[in-house]
Amino acid sequence: MTIIHLPKSWNVPEREVTPETVFLNRRRFFKTLIGAGVGSTLIPILGCENAEKVNSKLALTLNQASLEIVKQNPAFLTVDRPMTEQTIAGQYNNYYEFGSTKSIWQAAQALPTEDWKIEVTGLVKNPRTYDLDDLQKTFPLEERIYRFRCVEAWSMVIPWIGFPMKSLIAAVEPTDKAKFVRFTSYYDSKITSGPFWSLGRKLPWPYTEGLRLEEMANELAFFAIGNYGHKLPKQHGAPIRAVLPWKYGFKGAKSINKIEFVDTEPATFWNTIDSHEYDFEANVNPNKPHPRWSQATEKFVSTGPGLKWEKRPTLPYNGYGEYVASLYV
Ligand code: MTE
Repeated sequence: MTIIHLPKSWNVPEREVTPETVFLNRRRFFKTLIGAGVGSTLIPILGCENAEKVNSKLALTLNQASLEIVKQNPAFLTVDRPMTEQTIAGQYNNYYEFGSTKSIWQAAQALPTEDWKIEVTGLVKNPRTYDLDDLQKTFPLEERIYRFRCVEAWSMVIPWIGFPMKSLIAAVEPTDKAKFVRFTSYYDSKITSGPFWSLGRKLPWPYTEGLRLEEMANELAFFAIGNYGHKLPKQHGAPIRAVLPWKYGFKGAKSINKIEFVDTEPATFWNTIDSHEYDFEANVNPNKPHPRWSQATEKFVSTGPGLKWEKRPTLPYNGYGEYVASLYV
């Protein structure tokens, strides 16, 4: 595959950076409102300057318990564009188990997250089933602000809370035979209300995704259990999802309940549906068009009341080339 040499992605114009202080102040403002018992009525979320009246039902889905963050990873505190409003990110989602539109946030509330277990299995020395408590006790939580880019060409900036995938690798110790990992998402056709068929094809539920082991071990690869300072809302893939900021969003499986280390490239949901449209590798690449549309530019959701899109050039590897380009030499 073609390697694209990037300018250092973190050398970004000062005017475009969302400073940490702005983010922290926004968060404090939000917490103050919740603390004052404003959580169940129409509330402005995330910042005086862009305060927006939101539907109270949406606010309830976003108002999850706060998470104690051990550190804010200094390498991932700023990006080259403003952070997306929580209320926009929380009502413009892809989660096909709950429907094929972007408006699944209400349907996704049917996801049962109590007593969640994640089985880590396959070619590892220490197979283990974790519950969420175990995960939080074993892996210190940190916060990272990442660019997020969907294969459909829309993009956002999201502050995630979680832990690097390499910490899980260290805990379970894959054997020498393990070359790939496969993530499986929750699925129960009695509860999930999404389609069984699309474009004449039976959808290969459950949703699965995968990585090469080297990709999983990369510094950027992350498991998120929260965003915007709170536990993950269901529409974002509660209670735990994969976040891979240099790849298209479909690689980041939501609501994971099984992680399997395997020796051959695993079958995955979108790749099984159409391998030309949804590469197993699928890195953000402006020079590799999707068969049905260009990837040269993206639609970045800008801040402000309502959905507004701003056209921007796509950055190779979504701007994270300095971390990941060497994986693809
Ligand atoms: N995971 C599951 N289980 N089901 C899905 O439909 N959609 C993917 C990814 N993970 C999806 C999924 C796609 S296409 C995208 S762009 C992102 O989730 C969207 O994440 P967000 O809704 O939190 O922005």
